[in-house]
Amino acid sequence: MAEVVWLDGAVVPAAEARVPVFDRGFLYGDSVYEVVRAFGGRPFRMAPHLDRLERSSEAIELVPPSRALVERAVAEALAASGEADAYVRIVVTRGGGPIGLDPALADAPRLLVIARAVNAPKPEAYRDGVEVAMVARGRTDPEVKSGNYLPSVLGTSEARRRGAYEAILSDGVGRLTEGGSSNFFVVRGRRLATPPLAVGLLPGITRAAVIEAARADGIAVDEQPLWPVDLLGADEAFLTSSIRGVLPVVRVSPRAGAPAVALGDGRPGPITLRVMALYDAMVARETAPGA
Ligand code: PDD
Repeated sequence: MAEVVWLDGAVVPAAEARVPVFDRGFLYGDSVYEVVRAFGGRPFRMAPHLDRLERSSEAIELVPPSRALVERAVAEALAASGEADAYVRIVVTRGGGPIGLDPALADAPRLLVIARAVNAPKPEAYRDGVEVAMVARGRTDPEVKSGNYLPSVLGTSEARRRGAYEAILSDGVGRLTEGGSSNFFVVRGRRLATPPLAVGLLPGITRAAVIEAARADGIAVDEQPLWPVDLLGADEAFLTSSIRGVLPVVRVSPRAGAPAVALGDGRPGPITLRVMALYDAMVARETAPGA
């Protein structure tokens, strides 16, 4: 069991993996990436992750390595890590070259894949729920999963300072968009609502899976703009991401210095628990041996 990196065609222990300082991913965040979770050694929803990697690449005018190569690198890294429940990070940078912003200066894209044991939230977080903090920050080119994560980094920093687990980002007019590294849903009655992609957010693979699983179960899902009042007044809420799956939100901090507001009775609610079960069942079905 180990943390390993697939780099330049070979898998090496994480501590030995090196990227040159002139790599544009390091200098400018000029890169795209994906984070995939594997269950029993099998990545969940790999195809949509690879589709998104290709869309992100296209958006930043980068020709990504072939899908076959990325798939091979993931398989080799996963196998070498020996981890069944694994965190897999696929990174493609624009490569190195002389310092300068012009992408034409870059030599060739660099692919690397990190595989290690997953570090998901503790069982208590799923049982008791977490607090989120609304912050006045939004991501740049939010639909692209690029290496530019400063808004999320600083949003997370503020959220942690305010005693919350995750930041809820917003756009220039104050609409809520997504978590620092997650999407979010609110529950009103028996309906789910989540901001639409048109507001500007990462089209989460887990978000899409949850919408699919909920609708198949007869739970209505509205994709509509959500404002701070919608989250503060929700009966329930939850975060979604590939690593965390579905994580209940039970308290919302509206702003620095203001007390957090409890959602419902301050415990994960019935619809959230139902969605968590639906998602877990979907993951189990799709990652079962031979599925
Ligand atoms: N982040 N929004 C942002 C800004 C994210 O960074 C992520 C995922 C998501 C959820 O997307 P998905 O369901 O496809 O994982 C939404 C990954 C997990 C990360 O950066 O580690």
